[in-house]
Amino acid sequence: MGRARRCRFCHRPAEVVVRQANLPLCREHFISWFERRVERTIRRYRMLGPGERVLVAVSGGKDSLALLHALKSLSGPMGFEVSAVTLDLGIEGNSYSKLSVETASRAAKALGVEHIVVSIGDRYGFTLDEAVRVVRRPPCSLCGLIKRYALTDVARELGFDALATGHTLDDVARFLLSSYIFTSIRELVRQTPVVPPKLPGLPRLIKPFYESLEEHIRAYADFLGLNYMQDGCPYARTAPTDYFRAFLDEVEARSPGAKHTMVRGYIKHIRPALLASLGNKIEPIRPCSKCGLPSSGEVCAFCRLRERVLRALGKA
Ligand code: FES
Ligand code: ZN
Ligand code: ZN
Repeated sequence: MGRARRCRFCHRPAEVVVRQANLPLCREHFISWFERRVERTIRRYRMLGPGERVLVAVSGGKDSLALLHALKSLSGPMGFEVSAVTLDLGIEGNSYSKLSVETASRAAKALGVEHIVVSIGDRYGFTLDEAVRVVRRPPCSLCGLIKRYALTDVARELGFDALATGHTLDDVARFLLSSYIFTSIRELVRQTPVVPPKLPGLPRLIKPFYESLEEHIRAYADFLGLNYMQDGCPYARTAPTDYFRAFLDEVEARSPGAKHTMVRGYIKHIRPALLASLGNKIEPIRPCSKCGLPSSGEVCAFCRLRERVLRALGKA
């Protein structure tokens, strides 16, 4: 064992070493280092401006609770307003949805943040569990579609400027790697830190943890004593690409900073080249004829799914 390292700023014993910068930090200085980094990401990609209202999607997991906390502490100095939303997807296994709503409510209350709960069952007539029983598609892909739709729908209804999700640097790196390997070019070009509104009146979608590693998010959440849900969603083990996680973690362990370099390089060099080569082959977006949200065809994917599920359940 070498000598215990000391915090670069206050010389107390360090509790974390930020490896890519060889930066030892105590608890307190790590928390401010982490929040400064999120602030830099928000400014770099122009995610939020003064006077704007952001709705944060909070599932009760570590990433989303940390995001709510970080945005709340940046909201004063940066001049924006924060509210939280939790979707009750109707997942019965592990009492997931129930715990998710309770955990998020507790966290929002502790921070003094407005918390909106939206029941998918009440709003759209079916739950995720019902959709999974009826449609032969991986649960996580159905869930992704439902969440994206419902969050945009709610943020639009309540007039928010931006909708923030807890996607991390690790999520983005994993997504890029799998898209490269399976050559999903269209999905690849959609992967950006900010997605501008596709139609007027919609929120922009922002990912303030675009440059934050999961290990740092966990340290931040633990140092703050955030009470996040330990049990994941019961469908999570059906996710197909988890082996990319192990691979990228190994790359990061050997070359600290590799995930960040990969994602920055993609945004600065690879995506512009891809966009230029795709030219106007990107599908045009128009309002769905049923609900008015963005769609690439006459009726959006969510409205088609909803109709199908309601019909199978005998509710349509
Ligand atoms: Fe969406 Fe688990 S929370 S599939
Ligand atoms: Zn310190
Ligand atoms: Zn629709």
